[in-house]
Amino acid sequence: MSNPRPATAFIGVGTMMEAMIDKAIAGGWPRERLLATHRRADRRAELSARHGLEVGEDNLAAVAAAEMVVLGVRPQEMEELLRTLGPAFRPGQVLVSIAAGLTVEWLAERLPDGMAVIRVTPPPTAWVSAGITLLSCGDGVAPGWRSAIEALVHGTCERVEWIDDALMEPITGVALALTPYTCMLLRTLIATGVEQGCDEAFLRRMMVDGLAATAKLLSEGKLQPEQVIETVATREGLTWSALHTMESRGVPAGIRAGARAMTGRSYELRGERVPDDYMGFLR
Ligand SMILES: NC(=O)c1ccc[n+]([C@@H]2O[C@H](COP(=O)([O-])OP(=O)(O)OC[C@H]3O[C@@H](n4cnc5c(N)ncnc54)[C@H](OP(=O)(O)O)[C@@H]3O)[C@@H](O)[C@H]2O)c1
Repeated sequence: MSNPRPATAFIGVGTMMEAMIDKAIAGGWPRERLLATHRRADRRAELSARHGLEVGEDNLAAVAAAEMVVLGVRPQEMEELLRTLGPAFRPGQVLVSIAAGLTVEWLAERLPDGMAVIRVTPPPTAWVSAGITLLSCGDGVAPGWRSAIEALVHGTCERVEWIDDALMEPITGVALALTPYTCMLLRTLIATGVEQGCDEAFLRRMMVDGLAATAKLLSEGKLQPEQVIETVATREGLTWSALHTMESRGVPAGIRAGARAMTGRSYELRGERVPDDYMGFLR
């Protein structure tokens, strides 16, 4: 690697990869070292206008000119994309995948020998530079590459965590997916309040303030979730009646099954047999 901000190709610039590009530019990554492509002309024009980038059509040319190649397609599209990029890959390059569910091993098996693989899972909150980006890599990724990817994703999060690749799905399914899980809870609660005559706009503001307050209690108040529950839900009280009803109706069991389904689905996406423990995924 010749530069701490190596020439980097971005193939398949959708929502998440656009956030990465936006934050990389804001963090000072030189535009001429960001080689973005898209298959649709309207998207190329949109990305050019928004980020002041030249966005090409030729994936192979972008990959050939890059030291680091970041792929932002959906997992189902990855196998085909890797096949088409194959002729432009060369030993010494680093492949960075943000696709959920595809392990370092699965990716490495589809690349020429001598290419390194890094996996990045940005948080769903990357657009507001909040949350934690998870990173994992295979053997033989030089420290310089690890620093380069940290610099690239720096603006998409508050910090990065390098983890064992085998734990990427369980950690994503429990911790990074907290954002959509919380939004599902909020959506349900808002509907429940509206059913009982509450003003929807008022409730939506209350929810955002309540979330911020809860986060403050846990972080600044240094309380664990179990302690908060114990403190606010005294036996036979109102909060207890709510939590007790939710537990009796199977809410915790549903959450556990859902969070594990994410790991189960990743086996399917890799074309592997889903272990019995992860068969709870309901379509
Ligand atoms: N969204 C999140 O919060 C999040 C978080 C962590 C990881 N991820 C991962 O990030 C990846 C992208 O997610 P996203 O939400 O950004 O999806 P997205 O908006 O659908 O982006 C995917 C992009 O890839 C393009 N594409 C698909 N096939 C292609 C091909 N063969 N060649 C070139 N480009 C191709 C699509 O183009 P078209 O528009 O023409 O189809 C689209 O622009 C996924 O693998 C997901 O697992 C997402």
